[in-house]
Amino acid sequence: MLVVQTIAEVRKFVGEARESRKSVGFVPTMGALHEGHASLIRRAVERCDYVVLSVFVNPTQFGPSEDLAKYPRTFDADRQLADRLGVDLCFAPSASEMYAANCSTYVVPEGLQDALCGRSRPGHFRGVCTVVAKLFNIVRPDVAFFGQKDAQQAVIVQRMIEDLNFAVELEVLPTVREPDGLAMSSRNAYLSPAQRQDALCLFHALQAAFAAITRAQRDAAAIRAQMQQAIAAMPSARVEYIELVDAATLKPVTGLAGHHVLIALAVHVGATRLIDNIVVDVT
Ligand code: PAJ
Repeated sequence: MLVVQTIAEVRKFVGEARESRKSVGFVPTMGALHEGHASLIRRAVERCDYVVLSVFVNPTQFGPSEDLAKYPRTFDADRQLADRLGVDLCFAPSASEMYAANCSTYVVPEGLQDALCGRSRPGHFRGVCTVVAKLFNIVRPDVAFFGQKDAQQAVIVQRMIEDLNFAVELEVLPTVREPDGLAMSSRNAYLSPAQRQDALCLFHALQAAFAAITRAQRDAAAIRAQMQQAIAAMPSARVEYIELVDAATLKPVTGLAGHHVLIALAVHVGATRLIDNIVVDVT
């Protein structure tokens, strides 16, 4: 595996792969790789001839009071894992390589960013879309691999691909969980052992929602209330949002019947903000 820091090197090596008619797969990440990231990489290696991984903690998607400075950085382990999994090219740029000092153009998603995480993280999806658009222009992949764990991100990036005519296919892969159900996340590293236990309330709330739907509950408000209860049981947890929305439009649904429903929540466990979701096809 090659590790490069510059855009010029990425263009050179991906250009060579393209010239030898290889399909190019791309997995963008912020590093601190775990099994969730590994599942995307494995799928990319399986599907594409040449796989590019980016590792870049993107400053423009962090709010002023968020965890940019302390975001986990484990580059040595990341590069070893990527190499083992069969990544061809690892792009790990500096912030100045990605953003010139006079950079003044951003990609701003409208509408879809007003729901879920976008509401409490103003500017977050502007940062995500901007960096993903830049990375797509640098790598020019045939297929990009994203996780369902960040459901709103996947919907917004899909919309951006269509709106800005990127010639890339998005493949979204299922959320990878710890054996007890906690969705894998680089931010799980912030949790103390007690908080790690409490963090299970996100999964338990989603399980309660799924069980209620199985028992023919179709009222979104009732399901929300039940989820709220599952979280209230955990002393260190504070709900930021619990939403039941249409999985494509991200608009709230009140009656679930006939919807592809995204049930998503964000919960603060101590100082750590965690998100999780499931999608249920409700008849
Ligand atoms: P990051 O949080 O590092 O996630 C990189 C990719 O891994 C995303 O597509 C995310 O949805 C996926 N992922 C994370 N946890 C997962 C899990 N448990 N199961 C399956 N997939 C999982 O998302 C970002 O970085 C950034 O916003 C980025 C797209 C790189 C732009 O900076």
